[in-house]
Amino acid sequence: MKKDLLYSGKAKSVYRTDDPRELLVEFRDSLTAFDGKKKSSVEKKGFYNAQISAELFRLLEKNGVKTHFIGMASGNEMIVRAVDIIKIELIVRNIAAGSIAKKYPFKEGQPLRPPIVIMDYKSDEYGDPMINEDIALALGLASRAEMDKIRETALKVNDILVGHLGEHGLLLPDFKLEFGRSGGEILLADEISCDTCRFWDKATRKSLDKDVFRFDKGDLVAAYREVARRVVPEIFRG
Ligand code: TMP
Ligand code: ASP
Repeated sequence: MKKDLLYSGKAKSVYRTDDPRELLVEFRDSLTAFDGKKKSSVEKKGFYNAQISAELFRLLEKNGVKTHFIGMASGNEMIVRAVDIIKIELIVRNIAAGSIAKKYPFKEGQPLRPPIVIMDYKSDEYGDPMINEDIALALGLASRAEMDKIRETALKVNDILVGHLGEHGLLLPDFKLEFGRSGGEILLADEISCDTCRFWDKATRKSLDKDVFRFDKGDLVAAYREVARRVVPEIFRG
């Protein structure tokens, strides 16, 4: 049972449920880029992102990664375990794209092997600046042991996702993960969707993710639908 609104972010809203250990996350159609400076709303975006996220959480759980995912309450509403979000965004990069190709002498499309793991401080106020372990410790964001655990999990998630998406004709240049604490455990939280990953078609290297919106590359909903068609084909049957 969905109850009162707990928190509303740029693309998702979080509600309490009857059970204090569980929350309901609504994936909305609104989207923003560049720290909220660019805004829009696209019909069905929330549905596709929720379905892609749910499927990737299921895949990761099957492969031994603990996540907050419990199930779906509706097409765009996910039931999750309540966690305390760790205010560190883990970004894993396999191919240079986006900000790393702007800030450093990497060529867009250049493979990054081994993958690069970056930590950003999750803070709208400070514009999500890149941090390192010493800054995270000094800010009290996480312990060294927690940071070791989330880095190791992020690399495991990367291996699983790269393999799985590759079978569906998708490259994964980079993505962002968030983790949370719950009952002494660290769980993968938030979402894994076209808003938080770069997905490129393997054959054409065309963007099938939020870069379509960020850089006006065409039809956003067609791109998200294409990822859903490959990752969760069941939702298009019947
Ligand atoms: P970037 O190249 O803009 O730094 O983005 C790296 C990855 O992180 C990309 O897959 C998109 C994702 N991302 C988010 O999920 N949230 C954000 O606020 C930003 C800037 C990027
Ligand atoms: N999520 C951030 C924003 O909404 C930045 C981005 O994804 O480009 O502003």
